[in-house]
Amino acid sequence: MEELEGSELGTKEYWDTSYKNELKNYKSHGDVGEIWFDEDSQLRILNWILKQNINTNSKIIDVGCGNAMFMIELAREGYKCLTGIDYSYNAIKLGTSIAKDQNIDIDFHLIDMLNTDDVNKLGKFDIVHDKGTYDAISLHPDNPKVKREKYIENISAITNRSGFFIITSCNWTETELINTFQSHFAKFCAIPTPSFKFGGKVGNVVSSIVFSPKVL
Ligand SMILES: C[S@@+](CC[C@H](N)C(=O)[O-])C[C@H]1O[C@@H](n2cnc3c(N)ncnc32)[C@H](O)[C@@H]1O
Repeated sequence: MEELEGSELGTKEYWDTSYKNELKNYKSHGDVGEIWFDEDSQLRILNWILKQNINTNSKIIDVGCGNAMFMIELAREGYKCLTGIDYSYNAIKLGTSIAKDQNIDIDFHLIDMLNTDDVNKLGKFDIVHDKGTYDAISLHPDNPKVKREKYIENISAITNRSGFFIITSCNWTETELINTFQSHFAKFCAIPTPSFKFGGKVGNVVSSIVFSPKVL
């Protein structure tokens, strides 16, 4: 499989600057900032979780949580054991500020998902969620393959055996995600996303896949 062309979106500097600006906007006029792949994709994942009747005491983590809006929506639905991690201090600051202003309790940690020692301290979760984080890691200009593989290993380490890993990507197709994650996960289902037709071929702008861990 070919690697993606490296981009600034793969660097920590990019996210630090981006969330610094979002934090400033939030403080000055209450704008929570960008919800990646739009609110509809967030809603589709939320609806899938609600349809499964997943217990509100389940442990849920958002990996690369950004402004934490996905966790905030889950909290509004009654989910109580919520963790948000990001490697950008400004993202954690933004998420913490928004959650505090809405009286929502989220356990935030400043963690690089590629740092295995730190990741292992997190424990295990029933739902591990990623929207756009694996994409960002895949765009790193240096050694993206090694980083992607480390990421998959670390995601596997924090997913409960009976849990789910839910990923939304705009850079990889459903088939590519299944092939890449098959070392540790099997496809449980795909959450339908809007499709487009081009030259007689049907494609999707984003893919949302639910994986179950493999017993290794
Ligand atoms: C495309 S944004 C998505 C943010 C959020 N999940 C959303 O859907 O709005 C990617 C996020 O991943 C975070 N990120 C990228 N690499 C990371 C890493 N190695 N460890 C932790 N977070 C990372 C970035 O700081 C950023 O918040």
